[in-house]
Amino acid sequence: MINVALPKGRLGEKVYSIFESIGYECPSIHENNRKLTFENEEKGVRYFWVKPSDVAIYVEHGVADIGVAGKDILLEYTPDVYELVDLGIGKCRMAVAGKKDFFDNNDKTLRVATKFPNIAKAYYESKSREIDIIKLNGSIELAPVLGLSDVIVDIVETGKTLYENDLEPFETIVPISARLISNKVSYKFKNESITELCRALGEWLKK
Ligand code: PRP
Repeated sequence: MINVALPKGRLGEKVYSIFESIGYECPSIHENNRKLTFENEEKGVRYFWVKPSDVAIYVEHGVADIGVAGKDILLEYTPDVYELVDLGIGKCRMAVAGKKDFFDNNDKTLRVATKFPNIAKAYYESKSREIDIIKLNGSIELAPVLGLSDVIVDIVETGKTLYENDLEPFETIVPISARLISNKVSYKFKNESITELCRALGEWLKK
């Protein structure tokens, strides 16, 4: 049995439909209820719906053998897992953004609001720029609008949230997409099943 942690939400549904199309279907998942685990014994697969930012935790601890997590989460939390396949979906970028008239005064410590303090710290360290991190959990765009921070480090997908709040992206830190990850022990002991799944995903990616 392969245990798969899927990120709850739109991305997870897309991931499941890919898995379904390559032969890892689990019809009971379409039943409209609040169940969080689904199993297809015949196919040897069990799915869990988990909070997107928790996928890597389930995989790292081995309760899920594999899972799908955004590169943003992998960079921020550096879980001890293998990154196996770039699925090329859930594409967006990690960017620095702020008010249109923002001027960076190098004499001052830059106030950076973000959900991703480690990514932000590493980025500004590489530029030798001194910063103060303001760690938020959501609605990051509010911070520069209300003067809580000078800039934000956040996910930009369509750019609509920035645009509608009179903000603009300044620099891209890193492109992001969804990755198939594996628990290290599972990769060893369930190697045949995981390799077969990766091969099938590789075929799907070529289409
Ligand atoms: C993410 C991100 C931006 C928005 C970007 O927020 O933090 O706010 O999506 O998308 P866009 O460029 O297409 O507008 P999310 O929906 O995860 O909510 P939260 O960060 O406020 O929790």
